[in-house]
Parts: sequence; C-alpha cells; structure tokens
Amino acid sequence: MKVFNGLNKFFNYNFIVFLLLFISIPDVKGEINGNKKIINGTELYDTNGHVINAHGGGFLKIGNYYYWVGENRKNGVFVSCYRSTDLINWEFRGDLLTRQSHPELDKANIERPKVIYNDKTKQFVMWMHYEYGRDYSYARAAVAYSSDIEKPFTFLKNFRPFGNMSRDCTLFKDTDSVAYFISSARENYDMCVYKLTDDYLDAKEYITTLWPGGHREAPALLKRDKYYFMMTSGCTGWEPNQAKYAYAKSIIGPWSELINIGDSTTFNSQSTFILPIEGKTKTSYLYVGDRWDGKKYFNSTYIFLPIEFTNDTSMKLNWTDKISPDMTTGELVK
Ligand code: GAL
Repeated sequence: MKVFNGLNKFFNYNFIVFLLLFISIPDVKGEINGNKKIINGTELYDTNGHVINAHGGGFLKIGNYYYWVGENRKNGVFVSCYRSTDLINWEFRGDLLTRQSHPELDKANIERPKVIYNDKTKQFVMWMHYEYGRDYSYARAAVAYSSDIEKPFTFLKNFRPFGNMSRDCTLFKDTDSVAYFISSARENYDMCVYKLTDDYLDAKEYITTLWPGGHREAPALLKRDKYYFMMTSGCTGWEPNQAKYAYAKSIIGPWSELINIGDSTTFNSQSTFILPIEGKTKTSYLYVGDRWDGKKYFNSTYIFLPIEFTNDTSMKLNWTDKISPDMTTGELVK
C-alpha cells in the first residue's frame, strides 16, 4: 500500500509539473509577445517583458527589420528604439536621446520623434517637437542625427522653421529621396510643409500652408500609386477626435478638402504614423495611433488598424480588436 501511495504521489507530482509547464510556457510567452497578434488598446511588451514606451512614434524599415522610434519619457529618456521582423515581437535596442544628450535638453520635452535615412550622408536623421519647460509655448522643431539607428543620436539644434511655430509634426521621405517636414504652426491653426536640405538637417524651403485656420495636428503621410495621403487629427489635446484625410498628386499640392475617416474619436486614438507593409501579394498600410491617457501618460496604449482603399483616392479605417500582419504576403489578418 505504501509503495503504491509513493508511486501515486510521484506520478501526481510529475504530472502536475508537466501540466503546468505545458500550459504556462506558451501562455507566458504569449502574454509577453502579445499573443502572436497586436492587441489594440493594451500594453505591449518587448521581448524582455518590459512595457514598450514609444508613443508619438515613427517606423523605418532596414533590411528585414522594422524599427520603431518613439517617446519614452521615463527616467530622463526622451526617445527609445525597438525593432521587430513581425511587428509583434519587439526587441528593445537602445535609447537614442536622453536629458543628458545635450545641454538644450536638460529641461526639454520631446514629442513625436520621426527618423528617416539619408542615402548620401549615410546618417539617420531625427526631427521632433521640442519644448522647453512645462508648457507648450516654445513650439519649436529640433533635429538630431546618428550613423546607427540603434545608437545615441547627436542633438543638433532646436528652432522655428522659417520663424514659424512648430508643434505636432512628421517627416516624409519621398520615392525620389526628397524629404519633407510637416508641422502644425500658428498655434496649431495651420499645417506647414517644408522641403529639407539634401542632408535632411535643415529646412531648405517653406512650401505651403495646408488648410489655413483648419486647426489640424498629428500629421501622418503615405504614398500609394499616384496619390499622397495625409491623415491629421483635430486639436483637442490628449482627448481623441475625428481624424480626417486629404489626398494630392504632389506633396506641394493642391490637396483635396479634408474628409472624415474612422469614427468620431478615431476609435479613441490619435494618428502618429502610417506604416506600409510591402509583401509578395500586396502592399498594406497600417494606421498607427496613440490611445492617450492624458491623466496618466504611461497608461497610454497603441492602436494598429488596417487602412482600406475603396478606390484611388478613398480610404477607410475600421476597428479591429487584434491584428496580425503577414510579413510574407503583406496581408493584414484581423
Ligand atoms: C496633442 C498632441 C500630443 C501632445 C498633446 C498635449 O494634441 O498631439 O503630441 O502634444 O496634445 O496636450
């Protein structure tokens, strides 16, 4: 009887350990890596199990890697860098800009960093919204650069392009390698477009003011076939509002009127980037937005939604809880 009890205990113990391992390992991995899908509006974790801090961010594809560069805001870090091959498992790669990077950053606030690569100078160039002190009255742009997207950037300067205020912003590198900086000016009433110098380190030309008095911010651009598209939000601070888009055959314009997209709160998010995913079957476009928590910034999450085109100039944004990009085909599986 004793022998039988012993065997029984041994069997039970091992069986329970086996069961726990079997059940818990994939679960824990799934939790850390977002369950093989991006789950919208939840905390996302990097491969070390830390919450991803990369708000107001931008993306850049280098080889097989997608790099995600965005606002960190923790422990004096302004901008952090992550990379992934599937947009689900993100490796933390380093802090690109911190309070210590430059004396002009000691009391700064950095928002909406975006990075593009300059093929001639072989530098990664970052543009961002720069504030100094607690409020948003500085309203400047800033520029930094690095020869390695994973290594600290050199902070170059902060300034008002052509004397204009500059808050929410984005960068866009066109297929001919000409790059543009687009930012909200005149207390966010206007959206200004600037052409960059060949090294991307300065604004060479003021091009145009889009929708003067339109009060738009959070610009995000994409180019598809013959058309450029720009998504923007209204100006309600951390509160979400109705996103609108416009299209044009040239960045210089003329741009169409503003057209509503998504629902009245853009599914409780604000645009930060539109990420093209070029697969063998198709190129898809992924809307990336921030679901801000204005009271507790670090409770803010991310929203990734497929953009659907109904014709050359009409795009749609529909809600999905989860999304899984197929990096081979380019399909966005909901
Ligand atoms: C938003 C803007 C954010 C941040 C926030 C502060 O409108 O897009 O980047 O500046 O206001 O209230």
